[in-house]
Amino acid sequence: MASTSDTDPNLLEKITNLAKRRGFIFQSAEIYGGFRSTYDYGPLGVNMLRNVKQAWWRSMVQMRTDIVGIDAAILGPPAVWAASGHLETFTDPLVDCRKCKERWREDKINGVCPNCGSTEFTEPRAFNLMFKTQAGPVEGEGATAYLRPETAQGMFTNFANVLSTVRKKPPFGIAQIGKSFRNEITPQNFVFRTREFEQMEMEYFVPPSEAPEWYKYWIKARYDWYVDLGIPTELLRLHEHAKEDLSHYSKGTTDVEFAYPWGWDELEGIANRGDYDLTQHSNASGVKLEYFDQAANERYTPYVIEPAAGATRAMMAFLLAAYHEDEVEGELRTVLRLDWRLAPYQVAVLPLSKKPELEATSRDVLARLQPYFTCDYDVTQSIGRRYRRQDEVGTPYCITIDFDTLEDQSVTVRERDSTAQTRVRIDDLLAELRTRTGQV
Ligand code: GAP
Repeated sequence: MASTSDTDPNLLEKITNLAKRRGFIFQSAEIYGGFRSTYDYGPLGVNMLRNVKQAWWRSMVQMRTDIVGIDAAILGPPAVWAASGHLETFTDPLVDCRKCKERWREDKINGVCPNCGSTEFTEPRAFNLMFKTQAGPVEGEGATAYLRPETAQGMFTNFANVLSTVRKKPPFGIAQIGKSFRNEITPQNFVFRTREFEQMEMEYFVPPSEAPEWYKYWIKARYDWYVDLGIPTELLRLHEHAKEDLSHYSKGTTDVEFAYPWGWDELEGIANRGDYDLTQHSNASGVKLEYFDQAANERYTPYVIEPAAGATRAMMAFLLAAYHEDEVEGELRTVLRLDWRLAPYQVAVLPLSKKPELEATSRDVLARLQPYFTCDYDVTQSIGRRYRRQDEVGTPYCITIDFDTLEDQSVTVRERDSTAQTRVRIDDLLAELRTRTGQV
């Protein structure tokens, strides 16, 4: 399959609408007409985005002994961005259409203005993508600060701090999740490319001779992460960058690409950054960023293998891959087949009616599950409509409490994808759900 729109040409529009209608993602400052290319995450979106980040942190930090986390500042002094190369080279070629005056990225428009069709443009100018601001009340060069355009530099500037405090030795990694900012000229495709976004990055420091094997290792590990969380392999592929397309720091980059509705495009990049960053920061700061291998009595600058993912972009890919329309009992339904670890609600507790005698038992069931699963509690509308509402936001399990429950102390567990219903005793319910989700 070349794209998810082969099966549904309106997929992007459907996901955008669903995201707004069901509280995943709203246009930012919407009541003022919206602020272009910025988005707010609503009650369901914030749950899902946290789940994406949690799944990443779990696999990159929690389940390993060779990787530790940090949370570095977003604001940084120019010295960091001069050393990293961003002040000089983090630019896009910018052109203006001479007819309609719209501004475009030269490398994205094939010589024709997408707005008016004109082929007359100004000469390209280098446009730096970093947001520049001022720290403190005094203006001037000394007060200049930048919002970070990537989380990666926080790992390099803290290399010596981490090394001396947690006593790791290469190969070891430093991971971080957080917001990054780029003044993108052409933000587009919903949350695919925005000016404010979240990254999940890990810098893996290795002896230089081991860099090629770790580069391969991380390409596979990161590809497998998406598959494990439910993206079908036909929607994923690896794309190795040609030498002339490499970023200023890279000795090799491979992207994990996803089949978006507009075709194959980047989901995550895995780069072999060599010793570029540590060397640059050592030279610029005067602080040696090296590792001393006592056994070999040898000092060296580690190479860096970097898997760099976008949390918001990954969330979009998970939504696109999960969206399905099928038929249940002759009725069309929309269902998000999200892995339970990513679903905004993992369980919905649904009393069959609003009658007070069902409420106490339903609240008891909810209280038993809430410490272990993110739960919704919904008493409005018919049970059929409530199932559909939960299907549409990807809730894997619905628990229905009916009048028989009061007699037999059992509830109905309805599974999202198969719609199969089973009766389970309340006392066994937590264990049953933990088994079904593979937690025991
Ligand atoms: N430290 C290396 C680095 O930042 P990148 O390829 O520029 O590499 C890594 O960014 C990932 O961050 C991308 O694969 C993408 O998932 C995400 N990303 C980058 N720019 C983005 C934007 N404007 N909006 C949303 N996500 C973005």
